[in-house]
This record gives sequence, C-alpha cells and structure tokens, in this order.
Amino acid sequence: MHVIVAPSILAADLSCLSEEIARAEEGGCDAFHLDIMDHHFVPNLSFGPAMVKTVRRLTRLPLGVHLMVDNPLDMARAFADAGGDSIIFHVEAVADVSSTLEAISRLGVKTGISLKPDTPVSAVIPYLDAVDILLAMTVFPGFGGQEFIEESYVRIREIANAASHLSSPPHIAVDGGVDFANAPLLVEAGVTYLVAGTSIFRNHEAARNVKRMREAAEKRT
Ligand code: DX5
Ligand code: ZN
Repeated sequence: MHVIVAPSILAADLSCLSEEIARAEEGGCDAFHLDIMDHHFVPNLSFGPAMVKTVRRLTRLPLGVHLMVDNPLDMARAFADAGGDSIIFHVEAVADVSSTLEAISRLGVKTGISLKPDTPVSAVIPYLDAVDILLAMTVFPGFGGQEFIEESYVRIREIANAASHLSSPPHIAVDGGVDFANAPLLVEAGVTYLVAGTSIFRNHEAARNVKRMREAAEKRT
C-alpha cells in the first residue's frame, strides 16, 4: 500500500524554505502539511494564509492545512483561496461538525477532522464516512518536536477498524512525534498518511529522510 508522507513545514528551516521543499520532493513526499495556530486553541502562533500562498508557489504537491484554531470556519475560505487542498479542523473547536464539514466541502477542498490525544475517539467515529482525512494527534497540538504518545496505537486501531467497514474510508493520518521507528507500527495499526516535521527536516536532509520514512512505512505493507 502507498502510504502518504507529508512533511510538516513547521519544522523546516524557513531561511531556506524553497530548498527544504525541493529536498523533500526529491525524496518523494506526497504532500506538505501546514500547521496553523492561533494562540487560543493552542498555546502558540504559527502561520497564516500568506504562508500557504508562499508554499503554493514552491510546489505542485497537495497542501494539507491543519487549523489548530477556534472558529475554523472564519478563516477556512482564506486558506482555500491561498492554495490549500485540504482543510483540517479540530472536532473540539466546533459546535456542529456536520455543518462545518459541509461548509468546507463547498469551498471545493478536501475535508479533514482532527482530534487531540485526550479526546475520545467516539467524537469522530460518526463522521468517518463524511470526511477525506481523519487526523489523529499523537502529541498535544501546539509545538513540533514533542515525543510521540504511545497510547495512540489503541486509539488509531479503533478509528481504523471503524473506517474499514466503510465503502470509501478516509485517510487515517497521524501527526506528532512520527519517526522512522514508530512509522511501521502506525501503518500496521491502520495509518495511511504520515505527517512528520522534525524527523524529516532534521539536518537539512529531507530527501534522505523522506526516503527513510517511506521505507519504514512500507516495510510491513
Ligand atoms: C503539532 C503539529 C504538527 C507538528 C509535528 O501541533 O500539528 O504538525 O509539526 O511535528 P513533529 O513531527 O516534529 O512532532
Ligand atoms: Zn499538524
């Protein structure tokens, strides 16, 4: 099975962003991941639509926009217009998941729902057949470079099992602390989409690291 490898721009060296993106592409990545933080939903600030627009000019690969923000619909159109291909919001940030999914679909982009590591998986199971990407956080959102939470495997299995009964299941994505050691175990648990920042962009070796990540991910498939 082809596992999606999506480097997270948060960990890239922004002083040489175009080279970082080129190196990740050379390694054969499938997409890029952009973390949007508002200092309300998470205790950090990161990028806005201008950054998505910049990355859009540097690659033709799909851009996943991960909105770690309150009121995600307020900004969803701006990120779609900036060139985002999928807009991922947090289940904890909205009152009505179904109407949020519909509103994002109407923007002409793919939809994604994310959940924090301490949110019960039952919060997202009802929407698996209505979403393109289910992004399970494997660290508490807000910062790159954190340690992977080992309890995540059980949660991922539960989500993947529920998805396996659907005629068109969503991608099961993980985000946070993904590395070459846990990638094969994550894929074995049902993950089809790996977001990774630190392990990919470390030492300006994204080409080599994307290849290593793919080898690790596809070892067991
Ligand atoms: C964390 C972000 C992640 C982050 C992952 O809040 O959502 O996308 O960039 O970074 P690493 O792979 O370094 O844990
Ligand atoms: Zn993310």
